[in-house]
Amino acid sequence: MPMYLVLIGPPGAGKGTQAKVLSEQKNLAHVSSGDLFRDNIKRQTELGKQVEAILKRGDLVPDDVTIAMVRDRLKQPDCAAGAVLDGFPRTPAQAAALNKMLGEFGGKVNLVPYINVSEKSLIERLTGRWTCKSCGTVFHQKFNPPKVQGKCDKCGGELAQRPDDQEETVKNRISKYLSETSPLIEFYQKAGVMAELDGEKKIEDVTKQLLAAVAKIR
Ligand code: AP5
Ligand code: MG
Ligand code: ZN
Repeated sequence: MPMYLVLIGPPGAGKGTQAKVLSEQKNLAHVSSGDLFRDNIKRQTELGKQVEAILKRGDLVPDDVTIAMVRDRLKQPDCAAGAVLDGFPRTPAQAAALNKMLGEFGGKVNLVPYINVSEKSLIERLTGRWTCKSCGTVFHQKFNPPKVQGKCDKCGGELAQRPDDQEETVKNRISKYLSETSPLIEFYQKAGVMAELDGEKKIEDVTKQLLAAVAKIR
């Protein structure tokens, strides 16, 4: 049976950072809806052109577009054993669609690690974030600096800041999270699959909490 883990948390909580470690350790695909959108924007596909302005503003892409994209991704062969989902679902409609599609794939949401971080930490995390243009590894100028400034530790690629990490856009993303996404916390709590993590701790300590929660899945 494939295993599906859904990382949930506000913008800048550390979903991407933790998903990378978790997917490597558990041999699961890392499926980030944000990364999929950004890749489409980079390649200027039809989808990319359609969503570029939405991401730039920090608004949410419409559910139908997002659900179709993730469904296609989860059907790829590298997701056969399951996936770590990062940034999806983000609305109740997306959560319902995910349950339905995982049922079709013979699986279910096994665990929802919720990375809880206070609003005041988020702005500092996002405005100091640098991401590798080649491999997507995430750094932070203060909390997780690269060994050589501007260069990726893993692949030597060039580091860049995201266009939606300006303070005003970050505030809009947080407000969208609070209104659209935070209801999912209760949804998954009721489903009995939620594991709350203290996301204020250091990156390595959050990873430890995460792996401990995953180890408890029966
Ligand atoms: P997306 O790419 O998913 O962005 P997000 O949810 O806003 O989350 P981030 O990627 O900004 O943060 P993260 O939690 O991954 O944190 P990270 O690990 O990088 O979505 C972008 C946009 O795409 C959305 O605004 C929307 O437009 C669209 N979109 C995507 N999915 C969608 C969906 N399902 N429906 C509709 N629209 C969708 O860490 C952040 C920084 O903090 C890094 O610098 C990191 O090094 C540092 N850090 C991490 N952990 C710690 C720690 N414990 N202590 C100190 N620093 C830390
Ligand atoms: Mg991310
Ligand atoms: Zn890299």
